Amino acid sequence: MLDDVIEKLRKEFIEKLKGIKDEPSLLNLKGEFVGRKRGKIKSLFKELGKVSSEERGKLGQAINSFKSFVEKSLSEKEREIKQKTGKKKGEDYTYPGYRIEIGKKHLLKQVLDEVIDIFLKMGYHIETGPEVETDYFNFTALNIPEEHPARDEHDTFYLDFEKGKDKFLLRTHTSPVQIRTMLKKRPPLKIIVPGKVFRKDEPDDTHSPVFHQLEGLVVGKSISFADLKGTLITFLKALFGDEIKVRFRPSFFPFTEPSAEVDVLLDGDWLEILGCGMVDPAVFSEVGVDPEEFTGFAFGLGIDRIAMVKYGVKSLRYFYDNDLRFLRQF
Ligand code: DAH
Repeated sequence: MLDDVIEKLRKEFIEKLKGIKDEPSLLNLKGEFVGRKRGKIKSLFKELGKVSSEERGKLGQAINSFKSFVEKSLSEKEREIKQKTGKKKGEDYTYPGYRIEIGKKHLLKQVLDEVIDIFLKMGYHIETGPEVETDYFNFTALNIPEEHPARDEHDTFYLDFEKGKDKFLLRTHTSPVQIRTMLKKRPPLKIIVPGKVFRKDEPDDTHSPVFHQLEGLVVGKSISFADLKGTLITFLKALFGDEIKVRFRPSFFPFTEPSAEVDVLLDGDWLEILGCGMVDPAVFSEVGVDPEEFTGFAFGLGIDRIAMVKYGVKSLRYFYDNDLRFLRQF
């Protein structure tokens, strides 16, 4: 009796398998025959309980071999279907493509690259330095005295480890790379240093705990303040256009003497763009460059500031919020 049932089920299975063309219907058929709870083969095993013990062994074998047959046929079919559909996708050129989102440079990176480009054309080399600095390179070697307010814990991020006499901090400007470069290379030098700098400021429209600077340093025989002015005016014209009005204002920095701040006139307002000056002889002496033999100028510009002024961005925070509605405009 059970023999006949198995035979009938085998025919039914073979017939149904022929009609299977895709994975979902294959899964249905699998459930129908080898499903753990209600599969037809499971019911066959249940029937075994009712037959006499002499027949049980033989019939058990028959069911098991039917089960293996079903499983083998199902996995062959599955392989067949996968091969076919895989091929179809690859060959079907009308199949819709994927939309690839193409990113673009952040506005700060665009401005930084533009600024770097201008100086590279003027023959400058790029130098870089670490963002984690020692107070020696960030302050002492730059002639910044012990009691200077910039050294205060309120203004500078200090790290909580020291090594010998060195205290570690996040650099507050790119100027320490002037020192690192002069210790490594002899003049003549003509370098720019782009990079991130850090100050302990609460974020608002004009302050951010991280921002970007580009430092410049030129050292050689008989480099003069006229060279400094000519260089920076050339740079500002390249950046803002030939018509731009530029103003040099006397200022003070511990590492330059004399020092100046530079403003540009935009829409009727003078906007501060950079600090600069002639390298202080004390800085040269610190790195073993003879101030009698060499002179030089240095400058430091705020990239974020330039981007704001040039593109009319009202708040520094927009640069760091990562809001695509803002970033996509540039
Ligand atoms: N390091 C200064 C700052 O962060 C900027 C600066 C001013 C750099 C004058 C210079 C310079 O090289 O000569 O405020």
